[in-house]
Amino acid sequence: MVKAPVNLAQARQRVVQLRKELNYHNHRYYGLDAPVISDGEYDRLFQELRQLEADCPELITPDSPTHRIGGEPAEGFVQVQHPRPMLSLGNVFDPDGLAAWHKRVTNLLDGAAFAMTCELKIDGLAVSLIYENGTLTQGATRGNGYTGENVTHNLRTIRTIPLQLQGNPPPDLEVRGEVYMPVDSFRKLNAERAERDEPLFANPRNSGAGTIRQLDPKVAAARNMQIWVYSLSDARENDGGEYPYPAGQWETLQWLQSLGFRTNPENQLCHTLDAVNDYYQKWLENRHSLPYEVDGIVIKVDPFGYQNSLGIVGREPRWSIAYKFPAEQAVTQLREIGINVGRTGSLNPYAVLEPVVVSGATVRHASLHNEEDIRRKDIRIGDWVTIERAGDVIPQVVGPIVERRPAELPEFQMPEHCPVCQTPVVKPEGEAMHRCPNTSCPAQFFELLKHFVSRAAMDIDGLGEQWCRIFIDQGMVGSVADLYSLEREQLLGLERMGKLLTAKIMGNIEASKTRPLHRILFALGITHVGAEVAELLTNRYSSLAQLAAAPQEELLEIEGIGPKIAESIVNYFAVAENQAVLAQLAQAGVQLHHERAIVNPSDLPWHGRSFVITGTLAAMTRREAESKVKALGGSATSSVTRKTAYVVAGESPGSKLEKAQRLGVPILDEAAFLQMLENPVLENPAAADTEKPPPLL
Ligand code: IVH
Repeated sequence: MVKAPVNLAQARQRVVQLRKELNYHNHRYYGLDAPVISDGEYDRLFQELRQLEADCPELITPDSPTHRIGGEPAEGFVQVQHPRPMLSLGNVFDPDGLAAWHKRVTNLLDGAAFAMTCELKIDGLAVSLIYENGTLTQGATRGNGYTGENVTHNLRTIRTIPLQLQGNPPPDLEVRGEVYMPVDSFRKLNAERAERDEPLFANPRNSGAGTIRQLDPKVAAARNMQIWVYSLSDARENDGGEYPYPAGQWETLQWLQSLGFRTNPENQLCHTLDAVNDYYQKWLENRHSLPYEVDGIVIKVDPFGYQNSLGIVGREPRWSIAYKFPAEQAVTQLREIGINVGRTGSLNPYAVLEPVVVSGATVRHASLHNEEDIRRKDIRIGDWVTIERAGDVIPQVVGPIVERRPAELPEFQMPEHCPVCQTPVVKPEGEAMHRCPNTSCPAQFFELLKHFVSRAAMDIDGLGEQWCRIFIDQGMVGSVADLYSLEREQLLGLERMGKLLTAKIMGNIEASKTRPLHRILFALGITHVGAEVAELLTNRYSSLAQLAAAPQEELLEIEGIGPKIAESIVNYFAVAENQAVLAQLAQAGVQLHHERAIVNPSDLPWHGRSFVITGTLAAMTRREAESKVKALGGSATSSVTRKTAYVVAGESPGSKLEKAQRLGVPILDEAAFLQMLENPVLENPAAADTEKPPPLL
């Protein structure tokens, strides 16, 4: 809490300021469902004002926010007068605060012991429900506590609000409860809104409140809203009349349930302060296992007799207190947007924050998801941002508070150069992320080296992940080409590297120089160039130099190469560092070409032949089979027509086989297909039996 100002003039100034701020935030919260500060920050301002008013009673005014409840009702709704005001609750934040409340109550009750009902404090929207002769006649929001908004049309859509009560209800009944949106419904709603490019709700409470304050009930009906009912509007003592009213809060909850209301099964009757503290601790630890959000617990002196004698001060009953969980959202200023370079060279932004305490931990950094998210939410350096900590996950920036934006902050721009190696960054068309295209960039290099030596690439057995890390840390390799200039002695000089392993690694490095061209291309780790794409490319080009010189349009002519891949290849070869690596590889004797020079796709053996693969093959997946067909120049399609050259039928082939038979399309079983793959220029023996064996060459 902020230290009290030293003199009255200072105190007055601060009080005026605090009231102005609190009135504004009340309106944002209650009037607009769009708070610009976190609950924790609001609580701090509120407590500070309350403390000042307690210290300097001459500063108290009847219109102080400490004397009011909630906000003003929104225009556009019919306003209703609550039969009895909807109260608010005082807050405590620690065991000392709770003990002080308990002591105060005990003193007021002349030392009597009392039971307390403990309830979860649901983070939703308080509503009043009025039943006449057991029928729901009015549902309203709290509004300013005296006057609320008539939202009966929306509350009726909530299935857990009974329209008709069970049992034997009294003729007039007003109950209070909390309407909320379950967390999974909130997530779903926000995902749908993101898809439609609509602004996102900050949390389930705001989206719940926004839903109930809609004029059109169809909106509420479509969003799975729920209620927990927690009280009667008055603690009427059993008057011995026709209706056996409950005698306290705990009994009330059971009674409400018997009338058909939904009461929270986690409520608990406690007889000691220790039991209350245990209840708090249990839910502090387990709050995230609940399918709805809670922001603390509510403790209520149980017997109505005691409640009535304790009474109400200002807007808060003395007989109840909210024991709040530490805030998990906070508002702070975004100092900087830092950039991490990921393993594929993607530039990942993160938030550098003015440190802020959230749930007891100081948060300095938070995730900004990705660049697209920053742009969509328009987060700018210098903005006030809401951050959120949920469970163990890295804190997230929920979004900027645009209303608090200092004047003329420029929009955020991604850097033009990689922050690690200064290479100009690229943003391929249609991709969400900016990338550093320099694969020797230290940030990416470890991942690349692991990939380069892996079995499917250069297969340098013995050079595992740990050795990759050590080679880099020792400055022995700065690019994949440096592997080929390693000296035996350098390896032997490393701790735990023996002669045998040295020999194995050196031998495998040497052997890797003559790997097939497609494996070398794959090993380079070009974005989007996986093993299959590498094969397609090396079927078309006989050397990496040829590939490097190929214009994008030419690459696009290759079956299976789309614009994303083509652009990535062109970008890769445009980087001087990558060209240098290739030159160094060539210099070291790595074969960057092959003899089979196939310049024209029409020279491929299966060019112009379309294959349909159906059923399950034993030797490979359908995708693998299709890519083998494509590598030989053929195309793989999914439907059988008269133009289909072959249908390859595996196990359980289904209707495609029947269609092929009907149309007279040649059918290959798996064995025949494998044989054809082995020797693609030979005429297929299975096809030779058919009426019209299409010659393959
Ligand atoms: S009792 C006088 N019980 O918390 C009693 N309130 O900060 C007033 N709330 O306006 C409410 N769960 O919106 C009560 N189990 C619970 C509650 C609860 C959530 C909300 C309610 C109230 C606010 C007070």
